[in-house]
Formats: sequence, C-alpha cells, structure tokens
Amino acid sequence: MKTTISIIKADIGSVGGHIRMTEDILDMCRSKLNDVKGDLLIDFYVTRCGDDVELLMTHTRGVDSKEIHSLAWNVFKEGTEMAKDAGLYAAGQDLLSDAFSGNVRGMGPGIAEMEIEERPAEVFVAFMADKTEASAFNLPLYEMFADPFTTSGLVLDPKLHDGFKFEVHDIKGSKKIIFDTPEESYDLLALIGMTDRYSIKRIFKKSGEIAAVASTEKVNLIAGRYIGKDDPAMIVRAQSGYPATGEVLEPFSKPFLIAGWMRGSHRGPLMPVSQEDANPTRFDGPPRIIGLAFSMKNGVLAGPIDTFSDVSYDRARAKTNELADFMRRHGPFQPHLLPPEELEYATLPDVTKKLADRFEDI
Ligand code: 13P
Ligand code: 13P
Ligand code: MG
Ligand code: MG
Repeated sequence: MKTTISIIKADIGSVGGHIRMTEDILDMCRSKLNDVKGDLLIDFYVTRCGDDVELLMTHTRGVDSKEIHSLAWNVFKEGTEMAKDAGLYAAGQDLLSDAFSGNVRGMGPGIAEMEIEERPAEVFVAFMADKTEASAFNLPLYEMFADPFTTSGLVLDPKLHDGFKFEVHDIKGSKKIIFDTPEESYDLLALIGMTDRYSIKRIFKKSGEIAAVASTEKVNLIAGRYIGKDDPAMIVRAQSGYPATGEVLEPFSKPFLIAGWMRGSHRGPLMPVSQEDANPTRFDGPPRIIGLAFSMKNGVLAGPIDTFSDVSYDRARAKTNELADFMRRHGPFQPHLLPPEELEYATLPDVTKKLADRFEDI
C-alpha cells in the first residue's frame, strides 16, 4: 500500500493583524476532516503557524487528488466565512479565485505532498513557517541532505553515503533542474544561494525514493500584487536511510537570515518556536518556523513531537532576537529592506513610480 502525506495550507484571516489564526476556526477544520476520517482520509493533524492554517492529511489518493484538494478548499472557504463573520483581519487572504476546478495549485494555498512506500517505522518532520517564502528552506535543506557538518550520517552511515538528488525550481522562469550531491554540490549551491530566484522543491535518494518536498507556490506572483508571504510548509522523511530527526532539526539551531517579515519586504532571522509560540508580533515577526515530528504506520499518525519547544533551541531564539535587533536598526535601509526586484509586488514600486517624472538628467 502506498501512503500519501499532504500538507495544504492557507492564510484565511487572523486576529489582531497577521498574528494568529483562532482556535474556533481550527476546531471547525478538525471537525470537517474528522467527518471523512476512515473514508477519504486515514488520519490528519490540524495546526497553525502564525496566521496560516495547516492541514496535514494522510490518505491513499496520491498527490494532486481532486477529492483531497476539494476537501481542503471547502474547509478554507468555510473558515473564511467564519473569519469574515468574526471581523478577522485579511479574511480569505490566500484564496485568490472563486473558480475552483479540483486542484488548489495556482489558487493561492501552498501544497507539499509526497506519496511513499512506508518503511516499517516511518518517521517524518513537518515544518511550517510564517512571514517568509519557500526559498527560506534552501539553506537548511542543503545542510540536512548535503552537509556532513550537520548530518554526520553522510559520513558515518553507508545508507546515506551515496548522497541525494535535489530538484530545484526557477520560480520566475517555471523551469526545473536536478542536481546530484555530493558530486554537483557547488553547482547546486551556485543556484540555491540565489534565494530570490531558486527554490528546492524536492529531494530524492539516489535510488529514487522521495526524501523531502516543499510548497513553492508564490502567492504574489499568482495574484500579480502583494497579498502576503507564501509562508511555506515542507515534509522531510527521517531515520533509517534518511538523515536522523536530530540531523533534520540541526540547521535551525544556528539562526540565518531570510526574506519576509513586515509587509514581506524585509530580511530577518528565522526563529524556531513551539506551536504555542508561533505568534509573530514584533514588526510582524521575527519570521517563525515550527517542526512537528511524526511516526506513521499504514497512514495512522503518532505524535507529533513539537520539536522546537525543547530547551536546546533557547540559544537559537536568543540569538534570533539579537539578530532581529541588529536588522531592525537599519529601519527602511538595505540590507534590512529587500532589494527592488524582491519588492516587485509590495507597495514601494508605487512610490518609485510616483516619483519617476521628477527625475532629471545629471
Ligand atoms: P494593510 O494594513 O493595508 O493591510 O497592509 C499592511 C499589512 O497588512 C502588512 O502587515
Ligand atoms: P502574512 O503573509 O503572514 O499574511 O503576512 C503579511 C504581512 O504583510 C505581514 O506584515
Ligand atoms: Mg496574513
Ligand atoms: Mg502568514
């Protein structure tokens, strides 16, 4: 039996600004998914990261299933109505069209799905982030699957020693390319370091089994104007033949800078937090990430462990706060402010357009 893990996520509104989805709407989502558990779904887990609703579902319908996508879309629609009734901010933010035709791709929500042949004890970590974009996962994914200073198994474990394949998407040109690591690590890094253009979509073992998948939908590109950030999710398999769970989590113990934060227009550090602490308040941030570790048998979930609730990430959080102070010091200046190409869909281009005919030749 093959099992599919689907995370479909959307921002459908939030209380007090872009901070937090409400419990009653999450409960409605849980109740709707529970109605089809044992039928369409094997199991599910509903949570939120900041203002984003995250539906994690297991089933046997494969990726891009019309039934699964319709289920998620209808839950988001109903949640949007509840958000509107409650006067929540930006209700229905990520639902960009009413013309749903069986797949949420290109409609605003983010999607990370993988179909797998389960191992006898399947382990995966679901990461969900708020106030950032998919390419924020480039650095940690590289470290998990290609950096022996992070993943000692690449050196020590014969099952990891062959390395992995990285599928990279050019998010502006709708093209993809696949790299083998460690052989082509430098070529891979040459692209994925350019986080404004390239995102890691999937990682595979050399033998072809999927290891990781991330949502790479660009909500502002789809809408053609600034809506919010993509706030991506990803699924990473761990243990026996994949990096150990602790290796998968290790990149987040060393904070790094990503794009997003206030108005999707600023560079700042990504803070690993528990589900309860995923409330981006300071300058609408700093951007947050949660990591939920699951075990799975025949699609039935055990867990999750809320990994970043552990005290061993306290130093990363303290460091993130220091970096946040340092970046905030720059106010509207680069490099805190993103470069113009990355502000394409924010409001600043309107200001520069307004000033265009006041420029004189020097
Ligand atoms: P509005 O207040 O116009 O929605 O824009 C700001 C925003 O939502 C970014 O946080
Ligand atoms: P979200 O993408 O999380 O809605 O954030 C929007 C924003 O502009 C925050 O400042
Ligand atoms: Mg929002
Ligand atoms: Mg969000």
